[in-house]
Amino acid sequence: MRILVTGGAGFIGSHLVRRLLANESDSVVNLDALRYSGNLENLTDVAGHPRYTFVQADICDASKVAKVMKEHRIEGVINCAAETHVDRSIVEPGAFAKTDVIGTAVLLDEARRIGVTKFLHVSTDEVYGSVEAGSSKEGDPLDPRSPYSASKAGGDLLVRSYWTTYQFPVLITRGSNTYGPNQYPEKFIPLFVTNALEDQPLPMYGDGRYRRDWLSVFDHCAGIEHVFRHGQPGTIYNIGGGNERENMAVADMILAHLGKPKSLIRFVQDRPGHDRRYAVDCSGLRALGWAPTVSFEQGLCATVDWYRNHQAWWRKIKSGEFRTYYEQTYGQRLKGGSACAS
Ligand code: DAU
Repeated sequence: MRILVTGGAGFIGSHLVRRLLANESDSVVNLDALRYSGNLENLTDVAGHPRYTFVQADICDASKVAKVMKEHRIEGVINCAAETHVDRSIVEPGAFAKTDVIGTAVLLDEARRIGVTKFLHVSTDEVYGSVEAGSSKEGDPLDPRSPYSASKAGGDLLVRSYWTTYQFPVLITRGSNTYGPNQYPEKFIPLFVTNALEDQPLPMYGDGRYRRDWLSVFDHCAGIEHVFRHGQPGTIYNIGGGNERENMAVADMILAHLGKPKSLIRFVQDRPGHDRRYAVDCSGLRALGWAPTVSFEQGLCATVDWYRNHQAWWRKIKSGEFRTYYEQTYGQRLKGGSACAS
């Protein structure tokens, strides 16, 4: 199949592009705007691959999207392009509405116009909102609470409407917190790992007892591919790792693996509207034949080792745009933070 992956230079997108190329009957066009977290260094190993093409473009640019789909006779679309970081969405919500809602609308329109036969939209478990107990099922009402999750929920609803209105063959995946190599170091795990490697403080929001379900990027991409190939059109599939942990426990594991002291943790002012817990029920995807394969302990240690062994990759990022973002997000907080007892 000729597949268009949007956002293929990002974290999940780049792993997915590599995975799809391993299938000899697929070719992949990667359309990415290369904004701050898009990085072609994530794909140097496949750059010259005969079945791979890269196009720099924004998913909001309808004429460019139409041209790429037409020129490459695209048959399937997997939309990984998104603004994804909650903290940034609190500062510039409009950018999230633009990419995650309008961009999704543009993709849907153009894909339907050229007769794409499969459209998979990569979404997030955050659309369900904070879950105090139990786990979210695909049919649960949406309760997004940040500009990021609200924008993703808006995109999801549009995608779903294309099924009910036009029977356009859409699929939606809602993944849990994903970790692994090549993740931009604004997210919790790569931020804590790289800060620890630099002996810098680890900014722990609130009481550190927020809970997330951690999913290896390899399992997440396997889930997306599985849904793309075998999913029932018009259906939503949750993808979770089954590794629910408190943030403090994850920080402890990172520090232990690196042999760094717990005193590096600093409790700082909380994220506004911080969701306490996410958890998803993945029985739908499991019934389709997918199951996670990476244990959290193994996956986290391998990820920490990857950052330890690829310092040029993240040091370059941390010396650029990231510095301004970091100062804005953490400067004041770290001055007012309190140390963790070691
Ligand atoms: O659940 C899936 C979602 O997971 C994805 O849709 C999002 O794109 C992704 O960013 C992630 O959202 P979170 O807000 O849960 O991820 P983040 O890595 O920002 O934070 C994870 C937890 O760690 C959360 O409870 C906030 C906390 N945290 C995060 C950062 C960046 C800290 O305590 N300190 C930090 O500096």
